[in-house]
Amino acid sequence: MDSNAQFFSELVTALSLMMDLDENRKLYHAWRVAILSERLARKILPEYRADIFYAGLLHDIGAISLPDHVIHYTDINDHLNNPVLFNHTRKGAIIVNEIGPLSLSARMILDHHEHWDGSGYPRGKKGHKIDIGGQILNICDTFDILIRQETHANFKQVRAALDMRRNKIYSNLMYELLIATLEEDDFFNKIIFDERVSDMMLKTIKELPKMNMAKYNFDIHRVARVFATVIDAKHSYTAGHSERVANYTYKLATALDLPEERADNIKVAAYLHDAGKVAIPKSILDKPGKLTQQESTLMKKHPEYTMEIMSMVSALKSLVVVAGGHHERYDGSGYPDGNFGDNIPIGARIMAIADAFDAMTSVRPYQKRKNADEAKKELKKNSGSQFDPHIVKVALKVLP
Ligand SMILES: [Fe+2]
Ligand SMILES: [Fe+2]
Ligand SMILES: [Fe+2]
Ligand SMILES: [Fe+2]
Repeated sequence: MDSNAQFFSELVTALSLMMDLDENRKLYHAWRVAILSERLARKILPEYRADIFYAGLLHDIGAISLPDHVIHYTDINDHLNNPVLFNHTRKGAIIVNEIGPLSLSARMILDHHEHWDGSGYPRGKKGHKIDIGGQILNICDTFDILIRQETHANFKQVRAALDMRRNKIYSNLMYELLIATLEEDDFFNKIIFDERVSDMMLKTIKELPKMNMAKYNFDIHRVARVFATVIDAKHSYTAGHSERVANYTYKLATALDLPEERADNIKVAAYLHDAGKVAIPKSILDKPGKLTQQESTLMKKHPEYTMEIMSMVSALKSLVVVAGGHHERYDGSGYPDGNFGDNIPIGARIMAIADAFDAMTSVRPYQKRKNADEAKKELKKNSGSQFDPHIVKVALKVLP
């Protein structure tokens, strides 16, 4: 496979997994909607299979800033009255447009909550005016939400629930298409099991027509920045945190005379360092007071989730330990591994300082914001214990 195309598909898959980590578990919503949508597309839009698959993976990316996962909001009134939900299709379309060759997917995402009878959002489009990819996403999304409800345990029950919604939420054609797909090769009984979704996912990606990347100027920094925006959106206090940490990290790396390519790579890792935070409940991330023992244990898991997400992208493998090590301490008392001194990758030692500096100089629920001088004093105070003393020396010179 063209290495750019592979990189792209792995990145998007990782991004979708990140969206589906909810309070410590994987929900597979995006993956299931993507797999099923691609199946439907094979029958009526075969040339757009890949576009619809990626649209399925990313369809709810605009809803990342909800306190919990979007699948918990099953009532259309929740959607119409909650501004985050009401705007998630527009916001998602904008984000997806940013990340490369996905402008068709973006159009589908924009329409994935339009209803056949005109009662949907954001534009109240009706009938054939709704993007056909959006229609496919809509019925697959409905399917995944229905199968999570106890009253819809078997095919008959799901089918009856889908039947009730035809000609209202989606067209008769979409209904027939979904039912035919679910009946084929016992597909219903395969897709409903979480354990099988990962395998189906790999298989679908393998068989997908390759995206033509040649026309696109595929820029890893731009994609990493999109990730960072999504990560920071989860957490009301961290607007811009990942990007600032990336910029400080790069500045320190070049000031330490690391080769340009290395500094560049470490910067990408820095954009992603808190990716795992999306799996931590918002109530913990935004808690104004001190965390309980249990909350703090959960919070400290975020570097491990970051590593899990990054491991899905082969081209980022070498950066996994760099990003995952940003809470290690020079004296060995950090986490997740308790590594010390030069055993901690230099990128992680740099990032620890960039991260702490930004945390201290930003507004956070649990502390008063420090100015740059006060923050630097803290760096100095913790030099040799929390931080690498050599990097602190450089940081005192080059940080703002
Ligand atoms: Fe949605
Ligand atoms: Fe959804
Ligand atoms: Fe962190
Ligand atoms: Fe951070």
